[in-house]
Amino acid sequence: MNICAVVLAAGEGKRMKSIHAKVVHKAAGRPLIDWVRDALLEAGATDQAYIVGHRQEEVRAVLGEQVAYVLQEQQLGTGHAVMQASHFLEGRDGCTLVVCGDTPMITGDTLKRMLTEFCESDCAAFLITAEAPNPTGYGRVIRNGNGNVTSIVEHRDATEEQLAIKEVNAGMYCFRTPLLLSALGKIGSRNKQKEYYLTDTIEILIKDGHSVGAFKTGFEEIIGVNDRVQLASATALLNSRIVERHMRNGVTVIDPTCTYIDGQAEIGMDTVIYPQSYIQGETWIGTECVIGPNTRLLNVKVGNNVRLQQIVAEDCVIDDSASVGPFSHIRFGTHIASGCRIGNFTELKNTTIGSNSRMVHQGYLGDVDVGSNVNLGANCSVANYDGQVKERTRIGSNVFIGTNSTLVAPVEVKDNSYVAAGSTITDTVPEFALSIARARQINKENWVILRNRLREIREIKKNP
Ligand code: UD1
Ligand code: CA
Repeated sequence: MNICAVVLAAGEGKRMKSIHAKVVHKAAGRPLIDWVRDALLEAGATDQAYIVGHRQEEVRAVLGEQVAYVLQEQQLGTGHAVMQASHFLEGRDGCTLVVCGDTPMITGDTLKRMLTEFCESDCAAFLITAEAPNPTGYGRVIRNGNGNVTSIVEHRDATEEQLAIKEVNAGMYCFRTPLLLSALGKIGSRNKQKEYYLTDTIEILIKDGHSVGAFKTGFEEIIGVNDRVQLASATALLNSRIVERHMRNGVTVIDPTCTYIDGQAEIGMDTVIYPQSYIQGETWIGTECVIGPNTRLLNVKVGNNVRLQQIVAEDCVIDDSASVGPFSHIRFGTHIASGCRIGNFTELKNTTIGSNSRMVHQGYLGDVDVGSNVNLGANCSVANYDGQVKERTRIGSNVFIGTNSTLVAPVEVKDNSYVAAGSTITDTVPEFALSIARARQINKENWVILRNRLREIREIKKNP
């Protein structure tokens, strides 16, 4: 059967108390609406229309040009929202999935299973339901004596008796498209919220002699995000789903409750992740790495056998068998080649480091190209910024830079050279040279004795 999807994403989301559209708030690193889009794609609904209104530019920025948009100028309810898509729906004879943009937990698998049951039935529509431990706020599913769904009653319109029902409407449906269009034409707004409820189409279809089926799933899958508390629940659940997937693929996660992995991340087998690690954005980690504790990686490509301990790294590449940390900040544009050791309290920005180089004790490298087998002693830094422009520094291979040296960019230290400790390098260091760029040491013999005598003489003059 031909499947298309309509996603409701025009509402203001008042309960979020935010200046942003509700559906662009992030759960597990991705906008809510992105999770919904993925589930729909997985279920085979590639033809998608999004109902937008409140802060529509934000929703469009997330979803791009691959989907259709329908503007709902005034948000008069979920039924009114779907009515706006009638141009998109007219002339189609298959079925339409209707979902809300604020239900990020739904999986493609559940949508697919509902579609299969729906297609095998002669129902006009199917809705997804779940038993809610606390159904407050959700529409309640009303069934007759035979157990068939007869209608959905919104929380605010429900009687005491209906409020006791725990089976709730997920806000996800599939309809035979022509029947959806005809039912939409018949809904009114006679209810507490004076809104056009999409849920009324269920009762209308049944009154018109059609039958409606229900597909029950776990409550976790249907959680709607209306406020920040539900956003946190959805985030925790999505995160535990993601972490579990990695564990099943052979990643050791010491404590899944305090390990945070975004949806896009990829992690290789036998990698171990220690607590309080955040693996975010497009981060790929190879096999047999040890990550954390207390490490945040955002858009980082990590090779195999890498050790990253207590570091923050963003937009950079760290190759095989390198070790970074503890307490390092690896910033954008940095590439650390295989076998490097970048140690305590180091900051690297827009810097490339060749294989097997070491910078173990403190220091800053910004806009530097370092060759391989280089040793940078404790506290080496570059002066890459003169207050107006940033310049690059080049360090060849097999170079030894002594402790506490400063390289003033632009400058070059050629292959196989030495820089003596405490040097401030402002000119090229030639190959095979030793460069010493510091004031020569002067020893003033017996200076302490002379100073003490002088003091004694002054005392005698003051108190003769
Ligand atoms: C809705 C359902 C309720 C269900 C719940 C599941 C209705 C009347 N109620 O209630 O039965 O249990 O979802 O989460 O459908 N939207 C628009 N335009 C509008 C109004 C809403 O696009 O005019 C969008 C919102 O942006 C949101 C979605 O529709 O993404 C759902 O709206 P919301 O106000 O959150 O409905 P609920 O009260 O949660
Ligand atoms: Ca909702």
